Amino acid sequence: MKKRFEKINRVSGELSLSGDKSISHRAVIFSAMASGKSVITNLSQGQDVISTLVIMHKLGASILTKDRKVIIGGMGYKGFKVPSSSLDCGNSGTSARLICGLLAAQNFNSTLIGDSSLSKRPMKRVIEPLKKMGVEFKSNESFTLPFTVIPKSQIQPINYEMPVASAQVKSSILIAGLHCYEETSVIENEQTRNHTEKMLGLPVRFENGKIISSSLNKYYPEAKEYFVPGDISNSAFHIILTLLTPNSELIVKNISLNPTRTGFIEVLKQMGADISFEDIRTSSNEEYGNVIVKSSSLKNIRIDSQIIPNIIDEIPILTIAGIFADGDFIIENVNELRVKESDRIKSICYNLKLLGLIVEESEGGFNVSGSIKISNPVFESFDDHRIAMAFSILSMIIENGGEVNGFECVDISNPMFEEQISSIVN
Ligand code: S3P
Repeated sequence: MKKRFEKINRVSGELSLSGDKSISHRAVIFSAMASGKSVITNLSQGQDVISTLVIMHKLGASILTKDRKVIIGGMGYKGFKVPSSSLDCGNSGTSARLICGLLAAQNFNSTLIGDSSLSKRPMKRVIEPLKKMGVEFKSNESFTLPFTVIPKSQIQPINYEMPVASAQVKSSILIAGLHCYEETSVIENEQTRNHTEKMLGLPVRFENGKIISSSLNKYYPEAKEYFVPGDISNSAFHIILTLLTPNSELIVKNISLNPTRTGFIEVLKQMGADISFEDIRTSSNEEYGNVIVKSSSLKNIRIDSQIIPNIIDEIPILTIAGIFADGDFIIENVNELRVKESDRIKSICYNLKLLGLIVEESEGGFNVSGSIKISNPVFESFDDHRIAMAFSILSMIIENGGEVNGFECVDISNPMFEEQISSIVN
């Protein structure tokens, strides 16, 4: 579906967003693992989290939606039942990798499948550590989906130093580790999002610049109530639209403010953005609060490679901020973008070139300079929700607007994107 966006005049008002995607996946998985009834308020409405819900249901958990709450009847320790068919993760890397860690510790084999994009994404990164725990896999030579997980009756704990900065891999190992009698540790050289550790209350220590998180069966989740704060990655689109539109001000309410997710706000503030937080609270150990944004003139800065894992999902929309900021936009050490829902380096560069900007692509990043020369562009989403939303926002800022081909993929993380935008622009 091709969607047209006109240039907007002003952003104003308040916005509440549905729950953070990363926290939602975990709330669903931990509720299904627990014994008894858990209640989740403000679950993400995106298709990715629906994939996780459907898989948990196929594994035996009951799911009921009532008064905008999701009630999950969990199956308890190793209580999942054999699924009747393959488990479909759709487009969701988080479902595939986290659930793989869970299936690794059950008493039955199961097969994970995904859509064409997910079936190209690397899974060796979870297969390798889980194999060290004693699990076997029936997979193709490139270790991509579909594959079958063949658990062992008792998996072994491991100490695993992560070769890539990935919260999904870390979480997969820690979830498997919840089924061991001794400690499993994951060693990170760079901090990735820490929702799994926080939500499960896992011990985390720092040694010689490394972050070591551990799990074992005493941390197995119990049934509880979760409030999922609004999705900070989705708020990035509204925040940057406000910053780049004159005379604008927006309050985004009850947004996740976990410090491993607020990196893009730190980068924007260093670029000169007027952004502040108020009313900060905590739920399930996760910080959240209101974000207040005002139009700002921005200048590009050198983005430190240490912060990359913390801003990885926001790079497409940060690039849009960068092309309207003073100076050239330069981003390096973002090789992981090549293995997201699309090759995001390629997707971003392709779309920016449509505007006549000077774009230099390297293996691990890209530079953008020059000025916009071409009007009425038709951008490509490459079936990637964050690319579709980033270039929709850009269309709302440029003279004469623009179009986005394949816009429907925004449903993956935010089916309410258009309604939210209409409620704050004029
Ligand atoms: C996620 C981790 C990140 C992120 C993804 C969600 C998670 O992926 O890009 O959107 O919920 O753990 P990686 O673990 O591959 O870095």
